[in-house]
Amino acid sequence: MIIFLIGFMGSGKSTVGKKLAKKMSLGYVDIDQEVEKLEGLSIAKLFEIKGESYFRTAEHNLLKLQCNKSDIIVACGGGTPCFYNNMDLMNEAGITVYIQMNVDALFSRLVNAKNDRPLLKNLDQQALKAYIKQKLSERESTYLQSKCIVNGLDIKIENLAKSIQALV
Ligand code: S3P
Repeated sequence: MIIFLIGFMGSGKSTVGKKLAKKMSLGYVDIDQEVEKLEGLSIAKLFEIKGESYFRTAEHNLLKLQCNKSDIIVACGGGTPCFYNNMDLMNEAGITVYIQMNVDALFSRLVNAKNDRPLLKNLDQQALKAYIKQKLSERESTYLQSKCIVNGLDIKIENLAKSIQALV
């Protein structure tokens, strides 16, 4: 079984992923961390030095590698489902779970956690809110293609594990 956690930056994919992996006795892989390991650079540096499209290709290649594994939870980056055919790849390979959160909740999480995120770090508060609103509206139709949708503000790991098991 492969479970892909999907959602906007700040929605809690990594935190939920680690807890869920423990609960379900599955491995845990974070796509951003895999890219960082492979490239030997932080995501911020990678964007700065090689640019976003280089990052998106590396992200796609590492996602494809995960699709050949089993018994893992994969925490995606916020943009992962929205590039190449990544969303289809994930829906074919396993169970996609969208951690859904509204603009205000994302804003309050991201306002103090934007500096290591290259797409956000130069935005002031007003611009950050507008960016989240705009990007979420562009991306959400892709996120909503997930097989399971969970409210990011009210996640009970045990219940989520059960909902996922029911889809296997
Ligand atoms: C991105 C989200 C980031 C990271 C990169 C781009 C995005 O991951 O992949 O900065 O396009 O939304 P997180 O969602 O883990 O912050």
